[in-house]
Amino acid sequence: MTEKLPQKRILTGDRTTGRLHLGHYVGSLQSRVALQNQYDTFILLADIQALTTHFEHPELIHDSIYQVAIDNLSVGLDPNTVTLVQQSQITAIAELTEIYSLLVTVNTLRHNPTIKTEAKNYGYDDLTFGFLGYPVSQSADITFCKADLVPVGEDQAPHMELTRKIVRRFNELYGANLPEPQMMLSNCGRLMGLDGNAKMGKSLGNAIYLSDDAETVSAKVKKAVTDTTRISVKDPGHPEVCVVSRYHSIFNSSEAENICEMCKGAKIGCVACKKLLAEKLNALLDPFREKRAYYEAHLPEVKEIIMAGSERANRIGNETMREVKEAMHIAL
Ligand code: TRP
Repeated sequence: MTEKLPQKRILTGDRTTGRLHLGHYVGSLQSRVALQNQYDTFILLADIQALTTHFEHPELIHDSIYQVAIDNLSVGLDPNTVTLVQQSQITAIAELTEIYSLLVTVNTLRHNPTIKTEAKNYGYDDLTFGFLGYPVSQSADITFCKADLVPVGEDQAPHMELTRKIVRRFNELYGANLPEPQMMLSNCGRLMGLDGNAKMGKSLGNAIYLSDDAETVSAKVKKAVTDTTRISVKDPGHPEVCVVSRYHSIFNSSEAENICEMCKGAKIGCVACKKLLAEKLNALLDPFREKRAYYEAHLPEVKEIIMAGSERANRIGNETMREVKEAMHIAL
Protein backbone atom coordinates (compact mmCIF):
# COMPACT_ATOMS: atom_id res chain seq x y z
CA MET A 1 0.00 0.00 0.00
CA THR A 2 1.31 3.44 -0.81
CA GLU A 3 1.47 5.82 2.08
CA LYS A 4 -0.02 9.27 1.44
CA LEU A 5 2.80 11.80 1.31
CA PRO A 6 2.53 14.50 3.97
CA GLN A 7 1.23 17.71 2.41
CA LYS A 8 3.67 20.58 2.05
CA ARG A 9 2.76 23.75 3.90
CA ILE A 10 2.01 27.30 2.87
CA LEU A 11 2.07 30.16 5.31
CA THR A 12 1.24 33.68 4.30
CA GLY A 13 -0.67 36.52 5.85
CA ASP A 14 -1.68 40.11 6.11
CA ARG A 15 -1.25 42.89 8.63
CA THR A 16 -4.58 43.65 10.19
CA THR A 17 -4.41 47.39 9.59
CA GLY A 18 -7.51 47.70 7.41
CA ARG A 19 -9.42 45.93 4.69
CA LEU A 20 -7.68 44.21 1.77
CA HIS A 21 -7.80 45.51 -1.81
CA LEU A 22 -7.30 44.33 -5.39
CA GLY A 23 -3.52 44.64 -5.02
CA HIS A 24 -3.62 42.03 -2.26
CA TYR A 25 -5.89 39.89 -4.41
CA VAL A 26 -3.61 39.90 -7.43
CA GLY A 27 -0.42 39.66 -5.35
CA SER A 28 -1.32 36.84 -2.99
CA LEU A 29 -4.98 35.98 -2.32
CA GLN A 30 -5.50 34.54 -5.78
CA SER A 31 -2.59 32.09 -5.30
CA ARG A 32 -3.88 31.13 -1.86
CA VAL A 33 -7.20 30.12 -3.37
CA ALA A 34 -5.56 28.25 -6.26
CA LEU A 35 -3.23 26.29 -3.96
CA GLN A 36 -5.46 25.62 -0.94
CA ASN A 37 -6.21 22.03 -1.93
CA GLN A 38 -2.61 21.16 -2.77
CA TYR A 39 -0.96 22.58 0.34
CA ASP A 40 -1.76 22.60 4.03
CA THR A 41 -2.41 26.35 4.02
CA PHE A 42 -2.01 28.72 6.97
CA ILE A 43 -3.34 32.28 6.70
CA LEU A 44 -1.92 34.55 9.36
CA LEU A 45 -3.87 37.52 10.69
CA ALA A 46 -0.79 39.52 11.65
CA ASP A 47 -2.15 41.61 14.50
CA ILE A 48 1.12 41.97 16.41
CA GLN A 49 2.88 43.12 13.24
CA ALA A 50 0.00 45.57 12.67
CA LEU A 51 0.60 46.98 16.15
CA THR A 52 4.26 47.74 15.34
CA THR A 53 2.95 50.75 13.42
CA HIS A 54 -0.53 51.13 14.96
CA PHE A 55 0.10 50.57 18.68
CA GLU A 56 -1.71 53.83 19.41
CA HIS A 57 -4.87 52.56 17.69
CA PRO A 58 -5.55 49.05 19.02
CA GLU A 59 -9.31 49.43 18.42
CA LEU A 60 -8.67 49.64 14.68
CA ILE A 61 -6.63 46.43 14.83
CA HIS A 62 -9.43 44.59 16.64
CA ASP A 63 -11.93 45.40 13.91
CA SER A 64 -9.44 44.60 11.17
CA ILE A 65 -8.82 41.08 12.51
CA TYR A 66 -12.40 40.28 11.54
CA GLN A 67 -12.32 42.26 8.30
CA VAL A 68 -9.12 40.63 7.05
CA ALA A 69 -10.41 37.18 8.02
CA ILE A 70 -13.61 37.91 6.04
CA ASP A 71 -11.59 39.28 3.09
CA ASN A 72 -9.77 35.94 2.93
CA LEU A 73 -12.92 33.86 3.29
CA SER A 74 -14.86 35.99 0.79
CA VAL A 75 -12.46 35.31 -2.10
CA GLY A 76 -13.04 31.60 -1.76
CA LEU A 77 -10.70 30.23 0.89
CA ASP A 78 -12.58 27.34 2.46
CA PRO A 79 -12.56 27.43 6.28
CA ASN A 80 -12.73 23.62 6.30
CA THR A 81 -9.56 23.44 4.21
CA VAL A 82 -7.31 26.31 5.33
CA THR A 83 -6.19 27.29 8.81
CA LEU A 84 -6.79 30.89 9.85
CA VAL A 85 -4.39 31.96 12.59
CA GLN A 86 -4.37 34.99 14.87
CA GLN A 87 -0.70 35.86 15.29
CA SER A 88 -0.95 37.15 18.88
CA GLN A 89 -2.42 33.84 20.06
CA ILE A 90 0.54 31.75 18.95
CA THR A 91 3.06 31.41 21.75
CA ALA A 92 5.67 29.75 19.52
CA ILE A 93 5.83 32.91 17.38
CA ALA A 94 6.71 35.02 20.43
CA GLU A 95 9.25 32.46 21.65
CA LEU A 96 10.91 32.02 18.26
CA THR A 97 11.09 35.79 17.78
CA GLU A 98 13.16 36.04 20.93
CA ILE A 99 15.39 33.13 20.00
CA TYR A 100 15.95 34.34 16.42
CA SER A 101 16.72 37.84 17.68
CA LEU A 102 19.92 36.37 19.12
CA LEU A 103 21.09 35.57 15.59
CA VAL A 104 20.30 38.86 13.81
CA THR A 105 22.33 42.04 14.09
CA VAL A 106 20.83 45.48 14.41
CA ASN A 107 22.72 46.61 11.30
CA THR A 108 21.17 43.85 9.22
CA LEU A 109 17.73 45.11 10.20
CA ARG A 110 18.62 48.76 9.69
CA HIS A 111 19.72 47.99 6.13
CA ASN A 112 16.56 46.02 5.25
CA PRO A 113 15.16 47.92 2.22
CA THR A 114 11.51 47.33 3.14
CA ILE A 115 12.08 48.58 6.70
CA LYS A 116 13.83 51.65 5.26
CA THR A 117 11.00 52.46 2.85
CA GLU A 118 8.30 51.91 5.47
CA ALA A 119 10.16 53.96 8.10
CA LYS A 120 10.34 56.79 5.58
CA ASN A 121 6.65 56.50 4.64
CA TYR A 122 5.60 56.57 8.29
CA GLY A 123 8.01 59.42 9.05
CA TYR A 124 9.94 57.46 11.68
CA ASP A 125 13.50 58.47 12.43
CA ASP A 126 14.06 56.78 15.81
CA LEU A 127 12.61 53.29 15.31
CA THR A 128 11.04 51.23 18.07
CA PHE A 129 12.65 47.91 18.89
CA GLY A 130 9.44 46.19 17.75
CA PHE A 131 9.23 47.95 14.39
CA LEU A 132 12.91 47.43 13.58
CA GLY A 133 12.56 43.80 14.61
CA TYR A 134 9.33 42.86 12.89
CA PRO A 135 11.14 41.00 10.09
CA VAL A 136 12.54 38.69 12.80
CA SER A 137 9.01 38.13 14.05
CA GLN A 138 7.94 37.44 10.46
CA SER A 139 10.63 34.74 10.27
CA ALA A 140 9.02 33.21 13.37
CA ASP A 141 5.60 33.41 11.65
CA ILE A 142 6.89 31.45 8.70
CA THR A 143 8.87 28.81 10.59
CA PHE A 144 6.68 27.98 13.62
CA CYS A 145 4.73 25.62 11.33
CA LYS A 146 7.74 24.81 9.09
CA ALA A 147 6.19 26.40 6.01
CA ASP A 148 7.69 25.34 2.68
CA LEU A 149 6.14 28.02 0.48
CA VAL A 150 5.25 31.69 1.12
CA PRO A 151 3.15 33.46 -1.55
CA VAL A 152 3.83 37.20 -1.13
CA GLY A 153 4.44 40.40 -3.05
CA GLU A 154 7.95 41.46 -4.06
CA ASP A 155 8.23 43.99 -1.21
CA GLN A 156 8.46 40.99 1.14
CA ALA A 157 11.62 39.64 -0.54
CA PRO A 158 14.04 41.10 2.05
CA HIS A 159 12.05 39.42 4.84
CA MET A 160 12.15 36.09 3.01
CA GLU A 161 15.88 36.42 2.53
CA LEU A 162 16.27 37.12 6.26
CA THR A 163 14.10 34.12 7.14
CA ARG A 164 16.21 31.79 5.02
CA LYS A 165 19.38 33.23 6.53
CA ILE A 166 18.10 32.72 10.09
CA VAL A 167 17.04 29.14 9.33
CA ARG A 168 20.44 28.29 7.84
CA ARG A 169 22.26 29.86 10.78
CA PHE A 170 20.01 28.12 13.30
CA ASN A 171 20.49 24.72 11.64
CA GLU A 172 24.24 25.21 11.37
CA LEU A 173 24.68 26.36 14.99
CA TYR A 174 22.40 23.85 16.67
CA GLY A 175 22.42 20.91 14.28
CA ALA A 176 18.69 21.31 13.67
CA ASN A 177 16.77 20.60 10.51
CA LEU A 178 14.27 23.43 10.01
CA PRO A 179 13.18 23.67 6.34
CA GLU A 180 14.25 26.71 4.32
CA PRO A 181 11.05 28.32 3.01
CA GLN A 182 10.68 29.41 -0.63
CA MET A 183 9.10 32.67 -1.69
CA MET A 184 6.41 32.51 -4.36
CA LEU A 185 5.80 35.66 -6.41
CA SER A 186 2.55 36.17 -8.30
CA ASN A 187 3.01 36.29 -12.09
CA CYS A 188 1.00 39.54 -12.34
CA GLY A 189 3.61 41.54 -10.45
CA ARG A 190 2.64 44.60 -8.46
CA LEU A 191 -0.72 46.18 -9.20
CA MET A 192 -0.46 49.90 -9.93
CA GLY A 193 -3.06 52.38 -8.72
CA LEU A 194 -5.73 53.72 -11.07
CA ASP A 195 -4.36 57.20 -10.29
CA GLY A 196 -1.15 56.25 -12.09
CA ASN A 197 0.79 55.61 -8.87
CA ALA A 198 3.15 52.63 -9.18
CA LYS A 199 1.40 50.88 -6.31
CA MET A 200 -2.13 50.37 -5.07
CA GLY A 201 -2.04 51.02 -1.35
CA LYS A 202 -4.49 51.86 1.37
CA SER A 203 -2.33 54.71 2.64
CA LEU A 204 -2.06 56.06 -0.92
CA GLY A 205 -5.82 56.63 -1.19
CA ASN A 206 -6.05 54.81 -4.52
CA ALA A 207 -7.27 51.38 -3.44
CA ILE A 208 -10.25 49.41 -4.74
CA TYR A 209 -11.29 47.31 -1.77
CA LEU A 210 -12.61 43.77 -2.04
CA SER A 211 -15.46 45.04 0.13
CA ASP A 212 -16.33 48.07 -2.07
CA ASP A 213 -19.84 47.96 -3.50
CA ALA A 214 -20.49 48.12 -7.26
CA GLU A 215 -21.21 51.87 -7.36
CA THR A 216 -18.03 52.67 -5.46
CA VAL A 217 -15.96 50.56 -7.86
CA SER A 218 -17.55 52.21 -10.91
CA ALA A 219 -16.93 55.68 -9.43
CA LYS A 220 -13.28 54.85 -8.69
CA VAL A 221 -12.72 53.51 -12.21
CA LYS A 222 -14.33 56.62 -13.71
CA LYS A 223 -11.73 58.78 -12.00
CA ALA A 224 -8.80 56.77 -13.38
CA VAL A 225 -6.06 58.70 -15.15
CA THR A 226 -5.81 57.65 -18.82
CA ASP A 227 -3.73 58.77 -21.79
CA THR A 228 -3.41 62.51 -21.04
CA THR A 229 -2.48 63.35 -24.63
CA ARG A 230 -5.81 62.09 -25.90
CA ILE A 231 -8.10 65.11 -25.87
CA SER A 232 -11.01 63.96 -28.04
CA VAL A 233 -12.54 60.52 -28.69
CA LYS A 234 -11.53 61.02 -32.32
CA ASP A 235 -7.82 61.11 -31.37
CA PRO A 236 -6.08 57.74 -31.49
CA GLY A 237 -5.20 56.56 -27.94
CA HIS A 238 -1.93 55.21 -26.55
CA PRO A 239 -2.90 52.17 -24.48
CA GLU A 240 0.76 51.45 -23.68
CA VAL A 241 0.78 54.46 -21.33
CA CYS A 242 -2.76 53.97 -20.00
CA VAL A 243 -3.37 52.35 -16.63
CA VAL A 244 -6.93 51.35 -17.58
CA SER A 245 -5.47 49.34 -20.44
CA ARG A 246 -3.09 47.60 -17.99
CA TYR A 247 -6.08 46.74 -15.82
CA HIS A 248 -7.90 45.26 -18.81
CA SER A 249 -4.91 43.00 -19.45
CA ILE A 250 -5.04 41.76 -15.85
CA PHE A 251 -8.78 41.61 -15.15
CA ASN A 252 -10.22 41.28 -18.66
CA SER A 253 -7.55 39.32 -20.49
CA SER A 254 -9.84 37.83 -23.16
CA GLU A 255 -10.98 41.25 -24.42
CA ALA A 256 -7.89 43.30 -23.59
CA GLU A 257 -6.22 43.02 -26.99
CA ASN A 258 -9.37 43.93 -28.85
CA ILE A 259 -9.99 46.98 -26.63
CA CYS A 260 -6.38 48.02 -27.13
CA GLU A 261 -6.75 47.95 -30.93
CA MET A 262 -10.02 49.89 -30.76
CA CYS A 263 -8.36 52.54 -28.57
CA LYS A 264 -5.43 52.91 -30.99
CA GLY A 265 -7.91 53.24 -33.88
CA ALA A 266 -10.05 55.83 -32.00
CA LYS A 267 -12.96 53.39 -32.11
CA ILE A 268 -13.59 53.41 -28.36
CA GLY A 269 -13.46 56.34 -25.98
CA CYS A 270 -12.15 56.39 -22.40
CA VAL A 271 -15.64 56.57 -20.87
CA ALA A 272 -16.80 53.38 -22.61
CA CYS A 273 -13.48 51.66 -21.95
CA LYS A 274 -13.74 52.43 -18.25
CA LYS A 275 -17.31 51.23 -18.16
CA LEU A 276 -16.21 47.87 -19.56
CA LEU A 277 -13.49 47.62 -16.93
CA ALA A 278 -15.86 48.50 -14.08
CA GLU A 279 -18.26 45.79 -15.27
CA LYS A 280 -15.44 43.26 -15.36
CA LEU A 281 -14.22 44.19 -11.87
CA ASN A 282 -17.74 44.03 -10.48
CA ALA A 283 -18.26 40.61 -12.06
CA LEU A 284 -15.10 39.44 -10.25
CA LEU A 285 -16.16 41.02 -6.96
CA ASP A 286 -19.84 40.03 -6.96
CA PRO A 287 -19.35 36.47 -5.64
CA PHE A 288 -16.95 37.87 -3.00
CA ARG A 289 -19.62 40.34 -1.91
CA GLU A 290 -22.11 37.55 -1.53
CA LYS A 291 -19.80 35.48 0.71
CA ARG A 292 -18.85 38.60 2.66
CA ALA A 293 -22.50 39.37 3.40
CA TYR A 294 -22.89 35.87 4.84
CA TYR A 295 -19.88 36.17 7.15
CA GLU A 296 -20.76 39.74 8.18
CA ALA A 297 -24.08 38.35 9.36
CA HIS A 298 -22.34 35.43 11.16
CA LEU A 299 -19.47 37.02 13.08
CA PRO A 300 -19.50 34.39 15.87
CA GLU A 301 -18.80 31.80 13.16
CA VAL A 302 -15.82 33.86 11.96
CA LYS A 303 -14.54 34.05 15.53
CA GLU A 304 -14.91 30.27 15.87
CA ILE A 305 -12.93 29.72 12.63
CA ILE A 306 -10.09 31.92 13.93
CA MET A 307 -10.11 30.31 17.39
CA ALA A 308 -10.07 26.75 16.03
CA GLY A 309 -7.33 27.60 13.51
CA SER A 310 -5.21 29.26 16.18
CA GLU A 311 -5.62 26.23 18.43
CA ARG A 312 -4.35 23.92 15.69
CA ALA A 313 -1.48 26.32 14.99
CA ASN A 314 -0.56 26.35 18.68
CA ARG A 315 -0.37 22.55 18.78
CA ILE A 316 1.98 22.56 15.78
CA GLY A 317 3.99 25.50 17.15
CA ASN A 318 4.47 23.75 20.49
CA GLU A 319 5.90 20.70 18.72
CA THR A 320 8.32 22.94 16.82
CA MET A 321 9.35 24.59 20.10
CA ARG A 322 10.13 21.23 21.67
CA GLU A 323 12.51 20.45 18.77
CA VAL A 324 14.02 23.93 18.85
CA LYS A 325 14.68 23.84 22.59
CA GLU A 326 16.15 20.35 22.39
CA ALA A 327 18.47 21.43 19.57
CA MET A 328 19.57 24.42 21.69
CA HIS A 329 20.13 22.26 24.79
CA ILE A 330 17.69 24.27 26.85
CA ALA A 331 15.13 21.49 27.19
CA LEU A 332 15.49 19.83 30.59
N1 TRP B 1 4.50 41.66 6.15
C1 TRP B 1 3.38 41.10 5.42
C2 TRP B 1 2.71 42.27 4.67
O1 TRP B 1 2.90 43.41 5.01
C3 TRP B 1 2.37 40.42 6.30
C4 TRP B 1 2.92 39.21 7.00
C5 TRP B 1 3.11 39.04 8.34
C6 TRP B 1 3.36 38.00 6.36
N2 TRP B 1 3.64 37.81 8.59
C7 TRP B 1 3.80 37.15 7.43
C8 TRP B 1 3.42 37.57 5.04
C9 TRP B 1 4.33 35.89 7.15
C10 TRP B 1 3.93 36.29 4.78
C11 TRP B 1 4.39 35.47 5.84
O2 TRP B 1 1.98 42.01 3.73
